[in-house]
Amino acid sequence: MNVDGKQMRPIWFDAESKTPWVIDQRKLPHRLIKANLDSVDAVIEAIQEMFVRGAPLIGATGAFGVYVALFKSNGKGMNNDHIIHECQRIKDARPTAVNLAWGVDRVLQTILPHETHGTRITAALEESLAIVEEEAENCKRIGLHGLSLIEEISRTKKNGPVNILTHCNAGWLATVEYGTATAPMYTAFDKGIDIHVWVDETRPLNQGARLTAWELGKHGIAHTVITDNAGGHIMQHGMVDLVIVGTDRTTRTGDVANKIGTYLKALAAKDNNIPFYVALPSSTFDWTLRDGINDIPIETRDPHEITHIQGLDKNGELTSVMVPPASSPAANHAFDVTPARLVSGFITERGRCDASEASILSLFPERT
Ligand code: MRU
Repeated sequence: MNVDGKQMRPIWFDAESKTPWVIDQRKLPHRLIKANLDSVDAVIEAIQEMFVRGAPLIGATGAFGVYVALFKSNGKGMNNDHIIHECQRIKDARPTAVNLAWGVDRVLQTILPHETHGTRITAALEESLAIVEEEAENCKRIGLHGLSLIEEISRTKKNGPVNILTHCNAGWLATVEYGTATAPMYTAFDKGIDIHVWVDETRPLNQGARLTAWELGKHGIAHTVITDNAGGHIMQHGMVDLVIVGTDRTTRTGDVANKIGTYLKALAAKDNNIPFYVALPSSTFDWTLRDGINDIPIETRDPHEITHIQGLDKNGELTSVMVPPASSPAANHAFDVTPARLVSGFITERGRCDASEASILSLFPERT
């Protein structure tokens, strides 16, 4: 996407160093810093410490991780046990986004039949690059399929913009291009439709306030940052026409894991008769699961993220201030599950569907 006249992606392959690079998102929006993923440990650290985050981007990073494992294998590139072990370490970096295992396994399965280390490295790189391009294309299509939804609402509105609420960051920083939840917004805005986005700040790491607000601002889209608890109030007062969020893992029955707080937005949307849509590429469906609440693993992160609000100091380095009493325990559940019954529909690269197994499978019949 365009950042101050420069085309940027959150991940790219650098031909000179022959390694992937990423934007270190921890320092956005105040500093745009790049990080080199030149070892498997660097890949794992980038995922765990959230230099990169967002399900499709974690998947692409994991895919490149297999390439890095081969490229930096110290003579062990044909040792399948070693490579499979490295892949498992990458897959274990974060538990909730299914895209991570999907990306790693896709590249692993591609390289295993190759009989030389050199062809394995080439195949891993080609497959990782293919994943990156496919995810970009998928998000573009999500934008086109979501556009009609916003157009329909726009046609029925007498005046004012279409007000869309979103949670966390499901933008291009979380994918490769366009984003998932944001793709319909970018597409609608680029077509001249008047939209305004309510951006949940998304405590504790503020992906909404820091990243979604930055992205939308760079694209010129009108937006307002709100506290996570404001959604119900503004929905009750007719200030929200549509909710669109992303997801880290969605079951074949339509249960949706996404950033903590998404479930409460879905409940408030249901109570106020506001459409609640989830945008996702097919790589985010977990076709093996039916019961999201009981079977999707929910990441718990360091309570320090709750007790200490992060920001940058005057030198542009990460710093934090403590809020609760030092003796108070905190619990950091990073995701929650919104049951399918609260979801109005999905926006995928193949079109829109209802949040039911039959409707999802009508778009993805090969998963029947
Ligand atoms: O903890 P994060 O920042 O990785 O969580 C990200 C989200 O919850 C996104 O909404 C989700 O991954 C969809 S990204 C297109």
